[in-house]
Amino acid sequence: EKGGWSSFMAKEVSEQPDAVANTLRGRITDGRVVVPELTEFGDDVLAGIRRIVIVACGTAAYAGQTAKYAIEKWAQVPVDVELSHEFRYRDPVLSADTLVISISQSGETMDTLMAVKYAMSLGAKAISICNTQGATIPRESDAVIYTHAGPEVAVASTKAFVAQITALYLFALHLARVRGSLPEAEQAAQVAELQAVPEKIATVLGVEDEVRQLARWMSDTRAVLFLGRHVGFPIALEGALKLKELAYIHAEGFAAGELKHGPIALIEPGQPVFVVVPSPRGSAHLHPKVVSNIQEIRARGARIIAIAEVGDAAVLPFADTVIHIPLAAPLFEPLLAVVPLQMFAMELARAKGLDVDQPRNLAKSVTVE
Ligand code: M6R
Repeated sequence: EKGGWSSFMAKEVSEQPDAVANTLRGRITDGRVVVPELTEFGDDVLAGIRRIVIVACGTAAYAGQTAKYAIEKWAQVPVDVELSHEFRYRDPVLSADTLVISISQSGETMDTLMAVKYAMSLGAKAISICNTQGATIPRESDAVIYTHAGPEVAVASTKAFVAQITALYLFALHLARVRGSLPEAEQAAQVAELQAVPEKIATVLGVEDEVRQLARWMSDTRAVLFLGRHVGFPIALEGALKLKELAYIHAEGFAAGELKHGPIALIEPGQPVFVVVPSPRGSAHLHPKVVSNIQEIRARGARIIAIAEVGDAAVLPFADTVIHIPLAAPLFEPLLAVVPLQMFAMELARAKGLDVDQPRNLAKSVTVE
């Protein structure tokens, strides 16, 4: 039930602190990540993995793209992220030491199910990240790590997304532990970051009024661009997807570094651009590059909405609007930065009088190929 909320989506956006906290529960012991489902799957098998392929669609694929950075950094295993339907119908090279991880909120997405079955038929091991107990994809897989986001009713995925990233980070830290690739102190630091996420998301939920005003002001906008770099890149893609599906506005996400390779030609006076800005402390090498991207597009008349860390003074002179997120280590920023983008799409859809929970032409679960 919606309770007092205007939509299921509004309710689910607000439930994100719990979605993360519930996904962490029972998987952290004495400052270390021990995922019981993975121990059962076999720590020896995990120690022998040489490559990971993540298969998923839509928002779930963006959760995979975000987690790629963490898995490679902590566990030092190469990760490819593939759209399930693209993966299935080419001739992927897989072997017994390849681990396939599927991500699906519903666990019933036919494209992803077919990709998992195909990978298993070629000898790969398959782990599923799923939010629905007993769904088809986890039943077909060798192991499952359930996200505990609770039922997601709105077509637009929100709380499942942050729970998927959380589960993938738990996977990455478990893998790093069994492979001995991350010093104890580093593991403990990442665990502390994970445990702090629910409260930080709760803080970000406080930007609601600010975002609503922005959305009302922008309700006639015809196209919106999203820029991000490193883990901010998949968040830019997710922000654009949300806006397309909910507000029916043309939206595109770009890697900020790609701007000068083409997309900057799109910038004309008044063009709104959301920029996910990396932390000046945690990403000291990337922050100035993104600030310089902001300056370049600002000089061409773009209207900049920056999602930036509290206290980031460098963006202030160039951004028309700054939405602040709390301090977090770089890999954890996506879990915070995505929230205002979800809210923006939802509020813009509301401002246009659209059905937030059930956008046109879409189904919650896509059970045909
Ligand atoms: O149930 P799944 O996670 O497998 O669904 C995957 C996509 O269809 C889904 O994330 C879709 O992109 C959402 N509508 C995005 O909000």
